Amino acid sequence: MNIEKESALRSRGWFGRAGKDGFIYRAWMKKQGIPAYELAGKPIIGICNTWSELTPCNSHFRELAEAVKRGVLEAGGYPVEFPVMSLGETLMKPTAMLYRNLVSMDVEESIRANPLDGVVLLCGCDKTTPALVMGACSVDIPAIVVSGGPMLTGRHKGRSIGTSDIWRFSEEFRSGRMTDQELTLAEAGMCRSDGHCAVMGTASTMACMVEALGLSLPDNAAIPAPDSARKVLSHQSGVEIVNMVRQNRKPSDILTREAFENAIMVNAAIGGSTNFVIHLLAIAGRVGVPLTLEDFDKFSAGIPLIANLQPSGEFFMEDIYYAGGLPVVLRELQGYLHKSCVTANGKTIEDNCKGALCYNAGVIATVGAPFNNISGIVVLKGNLCEQGAIIKPSAASPHLMQHRGRAVVFEDIDDYKNKIDDPDLEVDENSILILKNVGPKGYPGMPEVGNMGLPPKLLDKGITDMIRISDGRMSGTGFGTVVLHASPEAAAGGNFAVVRTGDMITLNVPERLLTIEVSEAELEQRKQEWKPQPNHTARGYVSLFTQHVEQACFGADFDFLKGMSGSEVTKDSH
Ligand code: FES
Repeated sequence: MNIEKESALRSRGWFGRAGKDGFIYRAWMKKQGIPAYELAGKPIIGICNTWSELTPCNSHFRELAEAVKRGVLEAGGYPVEFPVMSLGETLMKPTAMLYRNLVSMDVEESIRANPLDGVVLLCGCDKTTPALVMGACSVDIPAIVVSGGPMLTGRHKGRSIGTSDIWRFSEEFRSGRMTDQELTLAEAGMCRSDGHCAVMGTASTMACMVEALGLSLPDNAAIPAPDSARKVLSHQSGVEIVNMVRQNRKPSDILTREAFENAIMVNAAIGGSTNFVIHLLAIAGRVGVPLTLEDFDKFSAGIPLIANLQPSGEFFMEDIYYAGGLPVVLRELQGYLHKSCVTANGKTIEDNCKGALCYNAGVIATVGAPFNNISGIVVLKGNLCEQGAIIKPSAASPHLMQHRGRAVVFEDIDDYKNKIDDPDLEVDENSILILKNVGPKGYPGMPEVGNMGLPPKLLDKGITDMIRISDGRMSGTGFGTVVLHASPEAAAGGNFAVVRTGDMITLNVPERLLTIEVSEAELEQRKQEWKPQPNHTARGYVSLFTQHVEQACFGADFDFLKGMSGSEVTKDSH
């Protein structure tokens, strides 16, 4: 690096200062044993760590951080690791999604407030990826993502299992086909190693998303967590972030409108999670790229499903890595993608996947002979969801894609829990289950309850799928004919708020329609009588959240966080 560039380093605003200020900035860093020359013009690289023993998917991140540090040092930078709030999907109540925006604020302010020239984002469990990317985008200094990688495939009774099986086990247990003892045995075989969920759930979808957007090095998405290649990639990312600082390659240089379109196409090809929609919208909002719900349908359309991964298919993340990883998917999609999009390493997305070879056509098919022609996210419109709702057709039942049925409405999650096991519940396999008040404001936090379990009396009849509609989300590991993110949510008082048991509902996926057979006059009358549910938890962060969270169709970010605010700090206290 030449002196001119060194003087342009953001960190020189701290360590390059004379007098008392520079003295304080340097002296307190030196107390950690850092020699003076390390702070004398090297790029200072933050390693934003979501390690936590309460986020088991990210519990190996200290080791990854050490590998990143080795890469940063090798390239002539100086690494400093810092913690941010971590989001463990399985343990956090009421839902980790309630805190995605909070973490993004933690990340944004931690980066901006400190003497950092670039940042490595250690992301793993579902929400940690969008939260860190959103925060880093708001500051817009060079940033690269290192994902923690998927865990090894689970094993139970001699067969492969993953998180999607939890939903099957649950239904088998509720219907009495699986004993408590068997469930405990399955539990022991589910999580065999470090890493996040081993199917194409939200965490893996997010890891693929960052690779497709160009925010990581190639191969980041699928290397299993315990594979030594994950540490090699972490090391190389440490090298690369120093290069990115030297070349001043920022998120805003990578995250163009075309990059977002690429990510949507890739998500369709891999059968990615529905949560992809809400997180990509939020990221686009941070960098000021106009992206709408309709774009997900438009750019998904015609993209074949080529990755044969659960929950839409058969295999696991470990398998896609052995088959060649995401670069094979990207190479296969070259006829669709914007090939000249620049990625973290300065190369185009086309260059990054040019030599990728497929080693298992059963796991990664070709666009000419795809695993499934049905893919992507379909955006539904109609008088039951005036601002839209989504469905993932590849995870749904073909016979329910055009269906008219009687609504069975649950006003909230407690109402659902109280009624669903009732043998007298008036419901049959043609009914449509509707769950209200699980949206961003209504719950609050928009939990993953949209793929609600079926009534036991229908499970007993061998029914395995029904249409379920909610203003909530679904785990990326879930499946079924599940309509999600109905906007405006019930708590916002639209038509979804006033749907009643007995109303006739039509779902027509090919026509993109979701309608309620109630006259406009009757809907208006009901809305006049409608009262929002009381909010008993309106203090502190939850109060801020309910006042400022946007609807799911816009990404459920806070209204005051749209757009970048940059890295400049105009005041300091020394
Ligand atoms: Fe962390 Fe699934 S619970 S990725």
